[in-house]
Amino acid sequence: MNAKTDVSPETTIDEFRKVVRSRRSVRRFTDEAIPDAVLDDCLELATLAPNSSNLQPWEFYVVRSSELRGKLAHACLNQNAARTAPVLIAIVARPDTWRDHARQALQEWPETRLPGIVEKYYTRIAPIHYNQGPFGVLGLAKKTAGLFVGLTRPVPRGPYSPSEMKIWATKSTALAAQNLMLALRAHGFDSCPMEGFDDWRVRKLLKVPRKGLVVMVLAAGRRADNGVYNQQYRFDKRQLVHYL
Ligand SMILES: Cc1cc2nc3c(=O)[nH]c(=O)nc-3n(C[C@H](O)[C@H](O)[C@H](O)COP(=O)(O)O)c2cc1C
Repeated sequence: MNAKTDVSPETTIDEFRKVVRSRRSVRRFTDEAIPDAVLDDCLELATLAPNSSNLQPWEFYVVRSSELRGKLAHACLNQNAARTAPVLIAIVARPDTWRDHARQALQEWPETRLPGIVEKYYTRIAPIHYNQGPFGVLGLAKKTAGLFVGLTRPVPRGPYSPSEMKIWATKSTALAAQNLMLALRAHGFDSCPMEGFDDWRVRKLLKVPRKGLVVMVLAAGRRADNGVYNQQYRFDKRQLVHYL
């Protein structure tokens, strides 16, 4: 069995459940640092998240130095999680890197033979699908064409505008964020995702590119005894899960 790709179902679900069930949003951390190798492994696992067209529209800004962390915690409204975490990670969606990444995907294709369909996808289909044109005019044209063609057959209904591209990149980036949180938990560390931050200050502090979107800032570290504020609860799933 290839340990990297195969898993035995009996042990996996139990281990998975333990990781998922023990993950909590932790608001207070101890001073203990996360070892570099652990952090590195978690970030690598984060990037294995599924993502749209494998265009990997994300970036991670890892802040460990106490000076920058202090400033970033301040920009995160001085939340306890941000103030006490030994590491803060800004998780950034990049709706604007798809063209370069499509080129890179072709250059770095991991097999000797590049399948024709892959080449066609990245050179011909992706540029039509993701390019919204100047001021979004191409997106508008695609949307209009889609409205007509869509009367008789299924068609993609987006992304058809720069703001839909933001949603496009954010979806995949949020999955990477979740992988990161679960990887930290599996290593015995914890996290708190935060959207409570001053976006303008965070971007300025970390020099986030103009088109990047700070999806969340993740506080990470070792859970303090008083790190979890309340019992975990969710609404009854019968209210939210629809079997059709
Ligand atoms: C996108 C997102 C933004 C969040 N922002 C904050 C935040 O700014 N501060 C905070 O303390 N918790 C934040 N949380 C954590 C949620 O409050 C928490 O996930 C929720 O209450 C459920 O608790 P649990 O994660 O322990 O299961 C955020 C979670 C998500 C997914």
